[in-house]
Amino acid sequence: MANDNAIAVLGTGIMGAAMARNLLAAGFEVRAWNRSREKAEPLADDGATVADSPAGAAEGAGFVLTMLADADAVAEAAGGEDGALSALPDDGVWLQTSTVGLEGQEKLAGIADERGVYYVDAPVLGTKQPAEQGQLIVLASGPEEVHERSEPVFDAVGSKTLWLGPAGAGSRLKLVTNNWILGLLGALAETVSFAEALDVDPNRFLKVIEGGPLGVPYAQMKGQMMIEEEFLTSFSANLARKDANLVLQAAEANGLRLPLTEAAAEHFDETIDAGHGEEDMAAIYQATRPDRG
Ligand SMILES: NC(=O)c1ccc[n+]([C@@H]2O[C@H](COP(=O)([O-])OP(=O)(O)OC[C@H]3O[C@@H](n4cnc5c(N)ncnc54)[C@H](OP(=O)(O)O)[C@@H]3O)[C@@H](O)[C@H]2O)c1
Repeated sequence: MANDNAIAVLGTGIMGAAMARNLLAAGFEVRAWNRSREKAEPLADDGATVADSPAGAAEGAGFVLTMLADADAVAEAAGGEDGALSALPDDGVWLQTSTVGLEGQEKLAGIADERGVYYVDAPVLGTKQPAEQGQLIVLASGPEEVHERSEPVFDAVGSKTLWLGPAGAGSRLKLVTNNWILGLLGALAETVSFAEALDVDPNRFLKVIEGGPLGVPYAQMKGQMMIEEEFLTSFSANLARKDANLVLQAAEANGLRLPLTEAAAEHFDETIDAGHGEEDMAAIYQATRPDRG
């Protein structure tokens, strides 16, 4: 019988560690696992147990929450040898919050089905700071019989949970939202570079749009990073490139071309090739700046 107060958190990177802390603060018994154990260890100071394996973390737990880089990493941690699902009780719930795209989502749903556990596809909106503040938006989708059980977990990590339908609906909306972010960021980087090329102070551009319908707060935040060339990571360029790929794959599978996103993906390739992959996604600016090459 699953203990719904116990949760295995697999992946303690930027997002997973922050979510684990908020789960601890909400009174959950958190068992944390990370491939590089040293990144999970600081969570012990907050009251988490650090597990040696995903299975060790999931033993007897009501929930497994995955927050890993991509679908392959999630599949291995959940369904591989010593994976969490081998130890999760039959009535346990797998809350899959990583961004994995459509094919990835289907593969993971298949793994859950094979093991006979409940599976909730629940990617999140929001970055490092909202994750630390428990202000994520959870795009949840999955079986109705576990909605109520899952709410305390989602309430601990987020400010809002949207239940969108059967598993897969969350990942579809997440991709749509990510396409918007990728386009915004690419246009912003090119606009900052364009301003510089024209001898227009890019701060003037940010000032002129601020507070009006064109002045999304996101542009102020990421625009400042570009102008100052300080790319402290909230969301890495490597993972943004992964997301661009997931968007483009899903578009192609549904008969659509997205040339703006293709261009953003190329900018990210250049950014990563130049050694900025671990920096924040705003480092896409490096591929657009007027003095490059
Ligand atoms: N950061 C954001 O703003 C944000 C927002 C929404 C959604 N997301 C999504 O959330 C997920 C996590 O993002 P993050 O920003 O927290 O990333 P991150 O800080 O780079 O952490 C990535 C995590 O994945 C693990 N990992 C990578 N490859 C692995 C593998 N092959 N096997 C096992 N573990 C592996 C890492 O383990 P190690 O420590 O051992 O490397 C780490 O725990 C991604 O799917 C991302 O797209 C991120």
